Amino acid sequence: MSTYQDFGLAKQKLNNIFLGILDYGVRASEHINDLIGICPDVIDRNELNCLLYYESQVEAIYEVFTHAHMKVAVFGRTSSGKSTVVNAMLRENVLPIGIGHTTNGFLQVERSLTGNAYLSTEGILPIQHNVESASYLAHVLKNIIKPNKKKLVHVYWPKENCGFLKDDVALVDSPGIDTTSCLDEWIGGHCINADAFVLVINAESTLIDSVSILYIFIFAYIVGSVTIRVVFKRRRNEYNCSSRQILGGSKFIRWLQICLPKYFCVHCELIQLLKINFLHKVSKKLPNTNIFILINCPDESELFDQERKQKMKNNINLLEKKLKEYTSHKPYSQIFFISAKEVLDFRVKVRSGLQPIIKPFSERYLEFIDFERQLENCISRSALLKFFNYSMHGKYLLSEMNTIMDIINIRSQEQTHFSMSQINEIQDKFNVTEEHFENITNQNSPITDADYSFSSFDDSLAVEP
Ligand code: GTP
Ligand code: MG
Repeated sequence: MSTYQDFGLAKQKLNNIFLGILDYGVRASEHINDLIGICPDVIDRNELNCLLYYESQVEAIYEVFTHAHMKVAVFGRTSSGKSTVVNAMLRENVLPIGIGHTTNGFLQVERSLTGNAYLSTEGILPIQHNVESASYLAHVLKNIIKPNKKKLVHVYWPKENCGFLKDDVALVDSPGIDTTSCLDEWIGGHCINADAFVLVINAESTLIDSVSILYIFIFAYIVGSVTIRVVFKRRRNEYNCSSRQILGGSKFIRWLQICLPKYFCVHCELIQLLKINFLHKVSKKLPNTNIFILINCPDESELFDQERKQKMKNNINLLEKKLKEYTSHKPYSQIFFISAKEVLDFRVKVRSGLQPIIKPFSERYLEFIDFERQLENCISRSALLKFFNYSMHGKYLLSEMNTIMDIINIRSQEQTHFSMSQINEIQDKFNVTEEHFENITNQNSPITDADYSFSSFDDSLAVEP
């Protein structure tokens, strides 16, 4: 049985238990309200308020976990392949993918309870749009809803189509982390309850090693020189001197030769810092969060040879070391070398009954499967832990409600006992009165006013309040 199914089972069981607690709370408060009418002395108002408060807490927890799902947040730079990864996990082209800033807001894909695909936005006036196809979804997102980076758009998709959704997993796609300065709000706002983070890194563009810095340097040098050639073409004709002289002699060229490579290196360093910053913020805000790092590589390239892999792993280790300097928490992270597009294409073709071109057992494909399996274990464990905390809290609330009910019960029993002894006392007094009347009648003496006056047994008849 898949660990995702454990989540479903636990949810169902907890659901029944919490329904029981809720029922107990409702009946207890009804009983108390009835008692208030009959014997107000037995009930302390504070106790009733406490009971109502606990009841509302149970209701709130019930509400939270009936809507609970395992949540995975996908992050990374623009065009790193985040949406492709989400689609590959969904086994279908659901979210729009493309070059440039394609995803402009946070999109949470979750299972549709109605069986139809639709979108809904958060806010005071939530908007709902029915979606017939993935292409129409892209159209709605681009032209109608225009996602706002601060608000989450829920994409409800039929669960039959996507394995992940069937098991109550919600996937959150995000805009590039390089497009915002408010990472804190993002992480705190939409991902606070995420069970795992997936950081997608484009293998080609962002991992820096000494070789790529050298390439960047050479590239920048050439660009600088060519620009200067163009700019100073007229000057060269004017002064009749060689371009080499101009290139060598110009302060501007020197400046460009130094500054351009520096700019690129700083830019790369910034990218690196951005990732560290992101991981740092995630681990600071959510210390026990699990982070999966996907190195997404274009399928055509041969980037995944062992040497290259080792280099990338070293870079990631460096990243983690730097991260440790910032924070005492050590996030659990795993690195996978995948090609999201390859997996997506393969799965889409298999679904539509076409013969896939790529080999299903390629190393990258197997790594993606391994990633999914580890993610499954990790998020179902994390979600079950949350359920455990809910159930502990539910247990506590139930015991508190029980204590209040016990106190009220003991008090009402004491009161009943007290009332019974009171009744017995009055009964005794009536018996005395009766005997007194009998005596008077038996004596056959005319009844005087004095006999009617209860003065003789006034004290004994006095009923205590
Ligand atoms: P934004 O939403 O703009 O932040 O981008 P993103 O990170 O969601 O990237 P997206 O998934 O839209 O992919 C960007 C481009 O990269 C698309 O044209 C994809 O087809 C391409 N791409 C993603 N993964 C792969 C891959 O593994 N191989 C190849 N060849 N292309 C890929
Ligand atoms: Mg995207």
